[in-house]
Amino acid sequence: MGVEYSPIRVSTIKPQKKLTFDLHIRFKEQFLLYLKVGEAVDRDKLKKLKKQKVARFFIDSNDEEKYQHYLDDLLDAAVTDKNMAASDRADIVSGAAKNAVEEMRENPSSKKAYKATEKASKGIIDVVKNNPEMLKELFKIKSEEDVTLQTAVNTSSLAVRMAQLKGMSEEEIEAISTGGLLRDVGITKMDKKYQELFSKPLETFTNIELKIYKTHPQLGVKVLEELETVPQEVLSIVHTHEEKLSGMGFPRGIKKMSPSEEIVSLCSSYDRLVTCLDGDPKEAIKTIGIDELGNYNLDNITFLKKMLKDDGLI
Ligand SMILES: [Fe+2]
Repeated sequence: MGVEYSPIRVSTIKPQKKLTFDLHIRFKEQFLLYLKVGEAVDRDKLKKLKKQKVARFFIDSNDEEKYQHYLDDLLDAAVTDKNMAASDRADIVSGAAKNAVEEMRENPSSKKAYKATEKASKGIIDVVKNNPEMLKELFKIKSEEDVTLQTAVNTSSLAVRMAQLKGMSEEEIEAISTGGLLRDVGITKMDKKYQELFSKPLETFTNIELKIYKTHPQLGVKVLEELETVPQEVLSIVHTHEEKLSGMGFPRGIKKMSPSEEIVSLCSSYDRLVTCLDGDPKEAIKTIGIDELGNYNLDNITFLKKMLKDDGLI
């Protein structure tokens, strides 16, 4: 029987760190051994691969556990290693989070994937904490693939930063981080042709598209409820992330949100403009200040704007 290969994200491999598994690349439908266990990727070579938009390495499926350990080690280092460059820190945390969210979408019933998401969301909390430069580094990472994975990380980190600056509790911040990452996990239950809606402006939707798009928060809750271990706070953030205080949101059109729910919804609206629709950050926050007036507390919109300015994003 031939070897089975699993794709792994290039951004999760760190230069100069010894590999605990063989690394392969795909070339013309073939898998070629790129580096052997015990070797390390050269920094310049890694940069070149990223520039060539090579997004994936491949590993022997039997090495998946070794890879998970390698990733855990890196995530720990990203949080604790004081000498690590901010850009490496951001790369690792973002890569781990995207891996986890992608895994949640592919295997929504996997407890392992949810655990990895929780771990990545803690990683986001830890690197963002007291690090005014981290948001900028995270937003610098241009998505090499699916923007819906990039916006998961960006929304989560924005909302975490906002909650930390507002002095919210650790429990609230954890729910915000995980909820932010998984807000659009319902995408996995949608027909492929409707998944593109996540990177299209709402105004261009047909009636049927709008109707289907509006089901995604509820679908996300359904996916997570099946795991039976997801905290209520996370479920409610996923459920309400498209709601507005004016009652003009969806799926329920409620007019009340908890502070955590409002922060995630606000950061989600902002990041949809910036990451999903590739908008200019300055224009995006201006748009939020006009179009979303009444949808969120003005204090929160002002707070977000000041935070973006202070952290160098606008
Ligand atoms: Fe959404």
